[in-house]
Amino acid sequence: MQSFVTRYGPWALVAGASEGIGEQFARQLAARGLNLVLVARRGEVLDELAGELAATHAIEVRPLALDLADPTATGQIVSATAPLEVGLLVYNASVSVIGSFVEQPLEAYLGELAVNCTRPLELSHHFARAMAGRRRGGIVLMSSLAGTQGSPFIAHYGATKAWNAVLAEGLWGELRERGVDVLGCRAGATRTPKYLRDSGGGSRSALVPEMEPAEVVKEALAALGRLPSVVPGRANRLAATLLQRLLPRRTAVAMMGRASRSAGIGEKKGRGGPTG
Ligand SMILES: NC(=O)c1ccc[n+]([C@@H]2O[C@H](COP(=O)([O-])OP(=O)(O)OC[C@H]3O[C@@H](n4cnc5c(N)ncnc54)[C@H](OP(=O)(O)O)[C@@H]3O)[C@@H](O)[C@H]2O)c1
Repeated sequence: MQSFVTRYGPWALVAGASEGIGEQFARQLAARGLNLVLVARRGEVLDELAGELAATHAIEVRPLALDLADPTATGQIVSATAPLEVGLLVYNASVSVIGSFVEQPLEAYLGELAVNCTRPLELSHHFARAMAGRRRGGIVLMSSLAGTQGSPFIAHYGATKAWNAVLAEGLWGELRERGVDVLGCRAGATRTPKYLRDSGGGSRSALVPEMEPAEVVKEALAALGRLPSVVPGRANRLAATLLQRLLPRRTAVAMMGRASRSAGIGEKKGRGGPTG
């Protein structure tokens, strides 16, 4: 515990902390004794979580309600954290635009790009500089198995998740000698509120193994400092090996397309969607 605080404390910032995987990061980091800055849009949810975690773990928790799609979001986070020593950044929030690529408006994809790529780039750059200066710290970027290969009907979401995985691995190789651990977490289907909402209660296919958010976060934190990227869950690791190494590319993409269709994604339109 103490070594975790020494290595990644005294403050962690979790972007996308009000529910699901991000809330679990907040809970498990609080249990390890880190003070927290919690970012999401719903301030009242953050306030409640902050109060609970501060009381339970005798830590300081600062909720910061903002929209990460807003171009001023990074500036707001930089100002709010200026007096704090942030030793761990977890970028978890995402947008997933689902449905036929040609039927969705371009603005939806640009918003997805801002939340999934521009913000984590800006925040990683800002916090990594300070961490490298202190020669300690960590960054976790949430990625997805959807970024392992092209994923029809969530093609751009998958591309943004591939971007996070590749950025994390490159930074792992670059920053470890400056004392900073970077991890890409390539999760599979995870029973978060968003996933359950968008998939109508979860997958009905035995081919889609689902995990609980707490398990995903536990494996991610165990891999931080040891690996450049992690695929939580044995079934997901098997799926990743199959999709990435064993199957011909066109077969892997076709499988993802079938999985999207069986989850009803191909027919849906608009924002949101199962993010696995
Ligand atoms: N669930 C899965 O099956 C799955 C699978 C693979 C990878 N992942 C990855 O895991 C991460 C978490 O996924 P998730 O299912 O928990 O859902 P998510 O929608 O990606 O994340 C939910 C959290 O992000 C916040 N958030 C979303 N948009 C935001 C915005 N514009 N500004 C500020 N905060 C925002 C939400 O809070 P507010 O609504 O209060 O803003 C909530 O706290 C994502 O990066 C996703 O790509 C998920």
